Amino acid sequence: MRHFLTLKDFSAQEILEILALSKEIKDDLKKGIRPPLMQGKVLGMIFEKSSTRTRVSFESGIYQLGGMGMFLSNRDIQLGRGEPMKDTARVISRMVDMVMIRTSGHERIEEFAKYSQVPVVNGLTDSYHPVQLMADYLTMMEQGKDQNPIVAYVGDGNNMTHSWLMLASKLGFELRVATPRGYEPNLKIFEEAQKIASLSGAKITLTNDPKRAVEGADVVTTDTWASMGQEEEKEKRVRDFQGYCVDSALMGLAKSDAIFLHCLPAYRGQEVSEEVLEGPQSLIFDEAENRLHVQKGIMVWLDRKRS
Ligand code: CP
Ligand code: NVA
Repeated sequence: MRHFLTLKDFSAQEILEILALSKEIKDDLKKGIRPPLMQGKVLGMIFEKSSTRTRVSFESGIYQLGGMGMFLSNRDIQLGRGEPMKDTARVISRMVDMVMIRTSGHERIEEFAKYSQVPVVNGLTDSYHPVQLMADYLTMMEQGKDQNPIVAYVGDGNNMTHSWLMLASKLGFELRVATPRGYEPNLKIFEEAQKIASLSGAKITLTNDPKRAVEGADVVTTDTWASMGQEEEKEKRVRDFQGYCVDSALMGLAKSDAIFLHCLPAYRGQEVSEEVLEGPQSLIFDEAENRLHVQKGIMVWLDRKRS
């Protein structure tokens, strides 16, 4: 049985296989065809953090596949009152066919997966957001930006950065990460990615200069400066990240046909300017929609691996 906790656990071939399946599912949906590939199956959806996209896309996705989603907020279930993850896993996984979890520490989802009888999908942890990266890459594929692209990530070295590091190192493309000093990605994850990159031919670089990262890039992306759980650091971060806003001047250094991606929610005037976010290079709503399609692909792929 396979889980979907981080892209580190997947080969390039498997990532591309899931994306091809997602594309097929998307094309069918656009034609009004909804094959019931998970007929009668139940997806438990545990949220220990807020969400718009993840909740709506997983719940719609499983329904479109013929199953149903069960929204479980930690405000309502005993997990929020301190019931251990390992007990929650052993109870819930006897009653549903798959579980999606959004939580804080990555070790929490690892513990759930260890005790789960059914596949577990990561809907974001403090360390990774792999389903988002699948949506981002599908968006790149649709734009023909999957042939040796140069991707520039500007901003905080967070869960999105770590997932970009894994995707680039697995698929073998160039990723340039620009963060302020002190906000670099986790060193252990960076080194793991470098090791994988040495096998795939990916080029991964780290800089404190956003201009150097963006120059000649095919894809420019960023994320909030203060992730969920970092609300108290917000003011300090806004000061520390001055110069890291993806605005028209910075975007102008990328290739003229470069695209802009953002996992959303976005904070206009901070990590990205209104002009770039709403501009012609921005594909943020295609990217958000692709969450639905790739997650259906991931769920079907995991379900098939189980049977
Ligand atoms: N991008 C993303 O995961 O959005 P939500 O937090 O709204 O789910
Ligand atoms: N880095 C952000 C992503 C939100 C989808 C966070 O963890 O809050």
